[in-house]
Amino acid sequence: MNQFDQTINRKKTQSVKWDTIEETYHQEGLLPMWVADMDFKAPEAVRSAFQAYLDQGVFGYSIVPDSLYEAIISWQKKRHNFSVKKEDILLNSGVVPSMALSVQAYTNPGDTVLIHDPVYPPFAEVVKENDRKLIRSQLSTEDKFAMNFAEMERLIQEEDVKLFILCNPHNPGGRVWSKEELQQIGDICKKHHVIVVSDEIHQDIVYQPETFTTFQNAEPSFKDFSIVLTAATKTFNLAGIKNSMVFIKNAELKQAFEKVQKQNQQNGINTFGIIGTQAAYEEGAEWLDSLLDYLKENIEFTYNFFQKELPNVQLSKPEATYLMWLDFSAYPLTDKQLEEKIVNEAKVVLNPGISYGSQGSQHMRINIACPRATLKEGLERIAGAFK
Ligand SMILES: Cc1ncc(COP(=O)(O)O)c(C=O)c1O
Repeated sequence: MNQFDQTINRKKTQSVKWDTIEETYHQEGLLPMWVADMDFKAPEAVRSAFQAYLDQGVFGYSIVPDSLYEAIISWQKKRHNFSVKKEDILLNSGVVPSMALSVQAYTNPGDTVLIHDPVYPPFAEVVKENDRKLIRSQLSTEDKFAMNFAEMERLIQEEDVKLFILCNPHNPGGRVWSKEELQQIGDICKKHHVIVVSDEIHQDIVYQPETFTTFQNAEPSFKDFSIVLTAATKTFNLAGIKNSMVFIKNAELKQAFEKVQKQNQQNGINTFGIIGTQAAYEEGAEWLDSLLDYLKENIEFTYNFFQKELPNVQLSKPEATYLMWLDFSAYPLTDKQLEEKIVNEAKVVLNPGISYGSQGSQHMRINIACPRATLKEGLERIAGAFK
């Protein structure tokens, strides 16, 4: 049996995905296909590294060993042809916390920060919660997602944008931005002195023949005005260990980030983050390759299912991520009615598209990182409600 076909009961495991929905929607029997974690066990190498630590029984303060930095450096080089040195790496809790720190480090209250529409909801939250002005540039969503470079440049000039937060690969659109696209947006940001924070947490979940380019590899000078946020947590299903890394090659940007980290005393990471990230990067490559094969088949399965059973729902195959963006605009439903129909009639929980920005109206995001039997069950439930 394929290891990813194994169904794991995640109920009563403090899981956001599984253990919050009954209370939210006041009903039982719902199948969660929302929050971006996977219903799969983490790699055996990670679990045995945790087990060895658990077995010694003492959980005091930890140091960050050089071997963690070496594992990060080697992973970036091998998987992404990206050269980072130990001094370029800062460690922090999650990617979203790192994003919040970068907003604090590189902008002042009232400054304007640019993000896309649609994009992962915490991008807007970190900007607004830090009292910065949020503006969004709409991605064109016909066929495949594309940036509107002219509009972005106009907004950058008109709104005096200080910081742009990029999502690459893009959640929820599943795009891997090409080197050319990155060069184009990087040139615009460079010209107008906009700092770029590139969230690359989905960098490892990329399907061949697509290849991922980190923003800092798109053009050598881009490292002077950008930082990269990433983690092993999305790739290896370790979101609960709350651990991320920040790659900063420019000394001034690094100093500013470190200062805010210290102001907030956010410069320590949890021990499971250290152990899990190191084990995953050192020993998880084979597991990841098998995962990508499985996810790719799940994407095909989902795509074919909708084409055949529910052709009014428009979707495309993502180049990256295990998330698919479903367009329900053929149905005359408001966003609220759409969410209610899927919960109350299909008994499935998806992420309402509207939470990603105005362009997400009449869309839903589905997470296909589950055993195929669970996926089939969820898709059949959705089809049943709309037929
Ligand atoms: C684009 C993006 N950034 C960040 C995160 C979350 O990162 P973390 O849990 O490390 O804060 C997610 C999770 O889905 C994501 O999709």
